[in-house]
Amino acid sequence: MAKNKVKILVIDDDPKISWLLTEGLAGKYDFVSARDGYEGLQLVSTEKPDLILLDIKMPGMTGIEVLEKLNKLEERPDVIMVSGHGETNFVVDSIKLGAAEFINKPFNVEEIDIHINSVLERSQLKKEVRKLKTELRAREDYSNLIGDSAAMQDVKSIVEQVADSELTVLIRGESGTGKEIIARLCHELSSRKNKPFLKVNCAAIPRDLLEAELFGYEKGAFTGAHKNKQGRFELADKGTIFLDEIGDMPMELQSKLLQVLEQQEFVRVGGIQNIHVDVRIICATNRNLEVAIKEQGFRDDLFYRLNEITVFMPPLRDRPEDIPLLVNHFLEKYNSQYEREFSQVSSSTIALLTEFHWPGNVRQLENMIKQAVVRGDEAIIADLIASAGRESSGAGVADTKPLTSVMEPVDSPEQKTYSLKDRIGKTVAEEEKRLIAEVLTKTNWNRRKAAELLEISYRSLLYKIKDYKLNATD
Ligand SMILES: Nc1ncnc2c1ncn2[C@@H]1O[C@H](COP(=O)(O)OP(=O)(O)OP(=O)(O)O)[C@@H](O)[C@H]1O
Ligand SMILES: [Mg+2]
Repeated sequence: MAKNKVKILVIDDDPKISWLLTEGLAGKYDFVSARDGYEGLQLVSTEKPDLILLDIKMPGMTGIEVLEKLNKLEERPDVIMVSGHGETNFVVDSIKLGAAEFINKPFNVEEIDIHINSVLERSQLKKEVRKLKTELRAREDYSNLIGDSAAMQDVKSIVEQVADSELTVLIRGESGTGKEIIARLCHELSSRKNKPFLKVNCAAIPRDLLEAELFGYEKGAFTGAHKNKQGRFELADKGTIFLDEIGDMPMELQSKLLQVLEQQEFVRVGGIQNIHVDVRIICATNRNLEVAIKEQGFRDDLFYRLNEITVFMPPLRDRPEDIPLLVNHFLEKYNSQYEREFSQVSSSTIALLTEFHWPGNVRQLENMIKQAVVRGDEAIIADLIASAGRESSGAGVADTKPLTSVMEPVDSPEQKTYSLKDRIGKTVAEEEKRLIAEVLTKTNWNRRKAAELLEISYRSLLYKIKDYKLNATD
């Protein structure tokens, strides 16, 4: 089967057994032997055998007890139990504990070789099935990243290229655009996929605790540190750490992170010893890091180090062609989760959805579909879009409770002048309309150029032109 010889650990107090096997099968397998269960268990971790031949009756720890201990390991080699006369009553126990085969002494070498071969074949098969399953899981995850638009195809192709590398990936994009999906995908599609993926939200953990959370601490490092604790970097060893909202990481910690990136080493809080880890780092942020650097809120050297590969997640408003696919995906997801049969939305609702400007991106769309499915009412979508549209444009703030009712007595004669709709909403909208019209005139109604100057997306500009009923004759 393999080019490297299969390593077999023989745990038996009778030295004849190991001698017999080595004499007869040494050309075929590598043998390591232990005279009792304790030595055997030690050799399992140091020698990493592919298979164990385990005697049942031994002084000290019995074979059954050894098997029980082996079962506590995260992964253990297959075990063939070997029994002497009158020990067949242990067959059931061994099988319950997951032994692969059971053979009786005395045996001859050819006989045991047949058993070894059959167990190895089965375990090879099991390994292949496991591998296929993980690949399938990764592909399933990948297929959960919905979107066929050119922008999403670009994202997918970058992810495919960089996932299985050691490059640090920085994922940027507005809230709800799928940054976390990308981070998980980079892990799932890498050779680290069977190792931990740990997410740390740098914005959600108070700054004093973040260092201890990331790097761990030593007993006595601060009040309450009663024992040593590993941090996320240690726990993620050999795997991937996802530093979400990296833009919110305090400056002091940024230098420590830079050191991990450069040397894969750090010290725990209150510690002196360097701890070495092998961790791949993926980060995400919706903050503008270039601005943060200018404002001295983010280290430029860290930025360049994190920025080996940047994936920009396109906002949903820039890829309306993905909306029908996303809608179907979320319909399926929530119908199955809530056992509903709300299978389709009408083309007029799809039209509404593709027109909307999605400040909350895919997350907002997902929530709308979820509500429609749970309540079994498509009309909810139109209502939600209408109220979200009013909130974000400012023009409809009057529909929400006026601020004046909190600030002033209701009968205040000045109530009118505090109305958001009158005082701010309209002004902001009018100012926006005026500015867009000015830039459009300046660019001779070249919409792409205008969108660039206004620093908004092309799609969003089209939306606003329509919304403000602007045209070239204005
Ligand atoms: N392309 C996509 N296909 C399917 N689901 C998506 C896609 N993009 C986002 N989602 C879903 O939208 C929700 C938000 O995605 P995610 O948490 O990855 O966004 P994010 O960019 O990390 O947002 P935030 O910056 O707010 O943390 C999740 O439920 C995710 O499954
Ligand atoms: Mg996120």
